Parts: sequence; structure tokens; C-alpha cells
Amino acid sequence: MALCQLLYLSRASEKMSMRDAMAIVDAASTHNAQRGLTGLLCYGGGYFLQVLEGDGDVVSDTFCRIARDERHHGVRLIDFSLIQARRFEDWSMRLINLDDPNLPEESHRPEKFRFDRTHPFFSTDPQVAFWMLYDQKMQALAKG
Ligand SMILES: Cc1cc2nc3c(=O)[nH]c(=O)nc-3n(C[C@H](O)[C@H](O)[C@H](O)COP(=O)(O)O)c2cc1C
Repeated sequence: MALCQLLYLSRASEKMSMRDAMAIVDAASTHNAQRGLTGLLCYGGGYFLQVLEGDGDVVSDTFCRIARDERHHGVRLIDFSLIQARRFEDWSMRLINLDDPNLPEESHRPEKFRFDRTHPFFSTDPQVAFWMLYDQKMQALAKG
């Protein structure tokens, strides 16, 4: 299948710690590298927002596995579309914690989300969600 992008939102399980989330991403980046997947996982306010890119069948199969994972719930698919090019090509998976007190103030909860009433923390609008993830990537690259 062609190159696709998938975005979803979910709520982290009550017991989830940042250490747990880092362990998920460590394992995920190894799996994803083997399957030609790239993307980014953002955590904030008890919620996850993730983007996955790659072959559509592989993305779909991986998402089905992720959706069954008991470390989060309320998984809500917000976009699955064909794309011309990857936007997270260097990252087989990364974790960005928006609650991290060391992040600059403007990164904590991106301004545009404060006015979004579709979700308690992120946005269910695929474009807003995508550009927020992409902004986070650019900020992370700028920081080095
Ligand atoms: C928020 C979240 C994001 C995840 N992201 C990925 C991912 O990008 N790739 C991946 O292979 N597994 C990811 N996982 C882990 C999968 O849910 C699953 O545990 C893993 O793929 C192993 O699946 P298996 O036990 O069926 O082999 C994620 C889990 C959670 C809770």
C-alpha cells in the first residue's frame, strides 16, 4: 500500500509514569525501525497524541496492536490519509512530554490548543493536531 499517515489520541492509564512511557517508546522505536515506520508520540495532561507514518498496511496493523494496549484507553483515530512525503523521517519514534518543567513555557500547552474545545488537552482536528506535532519536532531540532 502507499505511504500513509495516521494520527490518534488516547488517555494514558492511571498508573502510567514517564519512565513507563519512555520504555514504550524505546521498544516502539526498535519495532518501527524494523517495519519502516516513523513518527512522534506526545504526552500531556494525561493524554497521548501520536503520529505514525509508513506503508498503509503496516501503519494500520501497528495501530490495531497499539489500540489494544492496556497502558492507555479511549483510543480515538483522528486521521488516516495518503501522504506524499514523510515529515518525521528521522524518528522511528520519539517521546515529547509537554508536562516537562524543563521545556520552554510556550511548549507546555501550545497556544492554539487552549482555545480548542474538542478535547481536554489536545485537538481532534487532524490539521491542528498534525501541525502541533510538527511544531514540536521543529522545536526539538532547534534545541539540538
Ligand atoms: C501510547 C502508546 C504508543 C505506542 N506506540 C507504538 C509504536 O509506535 N510502535 C509499536 O510497535 N508499538 C507501540 N506501542 C506498543 C504496542 O501497543 C505493543 O505493546 C507493541 O507493539 C508489542 O505488541 P505485541 O505485544 O502484540 O507484540 C505503543 C503503546 C502505547 C501505549
